[in-house]
Amino acid sequence: MSIVEKAGANVLKTNFGKKAKKKKDKLTDETPDMPAPRQEREIIELDHQRLTALGYFNPDAPSSQLALELRAVKRRLLRRLGYLRASGARQALRTPGRQRNLILVTSTRAGEGKTFTAINLALSLALEDNIRTLLIDADFARPKVRARLGLPAAPGLADCLLDDAVDTAGLGWRVKDTTLEFLPEGARADRPSELFASARSQRLWNDIAMADPDRLVIVDAAPVLATTDAVVLAKYVDEIVFVVEANSTPEPAVAAAIDELIDINANVSVMLNRCQIGAGGAHYGSYEYYDRARPDEEPEAAEASKKE
Ligand SMILES: Nc1ncnc2c1ncn2[C@@H]1O[C@H](COP(=O)(O)OP(=O)(O)OP(=O)(O)O)[C@@H](O)[C@H]1O
Ligand SMILES: [Mg+2]
Repeated sequence: MSIVEKAGANVLKTNFGKKAKKKKDKLTDETPDMPAPRQEREIIELDHQRLTALGYFNPDAPSSQLALELRAVKRRLLRRLGYLRASGARQALRTPGRQRNLILVTSTRAGEGKTFTAINLALSLALEDNIRTLLIDADFARPKVRARLGLPAAPGLADCLLDDAVDTAGLGWRVKDTTLEFLPEGARADRPSELFASARSQRLWNDIAMADPDRLVIVDAAPVLATTDAVVLAKYVDEIVFVVEANSTPEPAVAAAIDELIDINANVSVMLNRCQIGAGGAHYGSYEYYDRARPDEEPEAAEASKKE
């Protein structure tokens, strides 16, 4: 059986509530080099026109194909994290020391759509569902979130990993009038895998998770076969969204990468990116949980989905 199965039929059944706010203000893209660390979190505005032109989620187009597909992805993800139950309220699936709010986005190899997916999930969770969401760029080899969002270089995750005295709380940006925050990659880090494996890193991810238990944290990471970064990060997170570019990455490579992750963290789900559904362009076509050891859904959630 293929490790990736189409779940496109689910796409149109989903319906996540609120319509997002309208934001069309311009963002300055003249970016100075690395400025001095800031003491307070800065407030920024996103250029949604530009993001939409790049193919990203547009809060003003709640019926777009992308918005619909993202809803299907979010629904499964939120259920796994305990956000969506029959009651509609988040219930405590937390285990001691774990908030179930850290989500790693990775893939087998470069260019499969990790950053595209991480940004879309963060935009959609925050702007459509009003869930507090922190997007972190942890792909130190190819950090691209900042550029995609049109933001300048700034201190970020690497600074916190390199220096105990630097706290994530004062870094990063808050997107004006939304529940979205973004922590950039920060300083250049020469040996990211070692940094991620450090005791400081373990504390830092724990602090990020505990800082706001109801905030979701989306971590854009390097691909599994390129470095050990993603595998190291896998041990700190609660869920892993594994992006597979449709009709591109050879299945044995995908399986090898997933096996590496599963050895560390069994909560891996596969998301097929750029698959063709109908006459349209590139779509998210599938979101299937790879972990066969655990039930696919909590019993209440399964009941709820039957009623949808
Ligand atoms: N479903 C999609 N529809 C349209 N464009 C897409 C889609 N998926 C990815 N892209 C585009 O393809 C390019 C590569 O995607 P992206 O940068 O997200 O990949 P990545 O896995 O993060 O790559 P890297 O490993 O280099 O970080 C980007 O320009 C992105 O905007
Ligand atoms: Mg990327």
